[in-house]
Amino acid sequence: MRRIGILTSGGDAPGMNACIRAAVRTALANDLAVIGIRRGYTGLIAGDAVPLDRRAIRNTIHLGGTILETSRNPDFYTREGRLRAAASIERMGLDGIVLIGGEGTFHGASLLAADADTAALVGVPGSIDNDVYGTDYCIGFDTAANCAVEAIDRIRDTARSHERLFFIEVMGRTAGFLALESGIAGGAEELVIPEEEVSIARISERIREGFTIGKKSAIVVVAEGKTPGVSFEIAREVSERLNFESRVVVLGHLQRGGPPTLRDRVLGSLLGVAAVEALTEGRSGCMVGEVGGDLACTPFEDTWQKKKPLDEKLRRIFPFLSE
Ligand code: F6P
Repeated sequence: MRRIGILTSGGDAPGMNACIRAAVRTALANDLAVIGIRRGYTGLIAGDAVPLDRRAIRNTIHLGGTILETSRNPDFYTREGRLRAAASIERMGLDGIVLIGGEGTFHGASLLAADADTAALVGVPGSIDNDVYGTDYCIGFDTAANCAVEAIDRIRDTARSHERLFFIEVMGRTAGFLALESGIAGGAEELVIPEEEVSIARISERIREGFTIGKKSAIVVVAEGKTPGVSFEIAREVSERLNFESRVVVLGHLQRGGPPTLRDRVLGSLLGVAAVEALTEGRSGCMVGEVGGDLACTPFEDTWQKKKPLDEKLRRIFPFLSE
């Protein structure tokens, strides 16, 4: 292993820069040359790369987003696109690549490895959705969840002042990790997550009960699921049933930006080092993650084919904490 590349792909996540920084420092400490591939798989196909030295990563640990930029590139899901990427990898003289991203990134990496005898590929989970199998937490989740909690706290102030019902929609795609943890931490009254059937009757009844026993506000945290904006419809149905006005706030991309929290900087650093060490140990076709406090290397196929379950302990406590 002499020369490696690093790329970020899919949705950006706070802490990705901490991971890039750690990977570069580890590469340099192991006498590896290192380059940054710009804009994820788009840059990999095009061979769009920048040198990554100590200077390039200086003062980046506190920055959100990704200094390498990112993309979601449908061309990588064609064999032709992947063969072009394999040719670029050869031209760039790469022996290994660190890929920081989510399920889609690792799906793409599995396909690339099947199509071409190319550089060694090691992944690092970076996604605010936290839906990647093979790690307890993904880089970016903690920052996004803290952003959602801060929004819930702010909305609680105005909800309480007006005795209002609010629906707050959080990201997370088809997983309820962000909704569940921010719902618990924000003291939400109800939760809508993709892992459970939505019950307008149940939500309405619990909100009615809450106001009856003297609550001054109600907040329902809604996971966007497959249909961002879904909270407007849910709010309309609950409001009609209760004959009670409500407001909707969709947090959207606010949750993806901002400086990474301590947890995301530390996780990004830990996994950035682990990824480069995995490459120097001769590993390929797997994602490094942290499971139960230990480092783990999970085959790419498992990271996107296996469904990561929500934490059952948290699911169990939500209903009675929200009474
Ligand atoms: O996967 C991260 C994520 O932020 C999801 O939570 C969200 O559904 C999606 O990306 C939004 O994607 P885009 O930035 O392409 O609109």
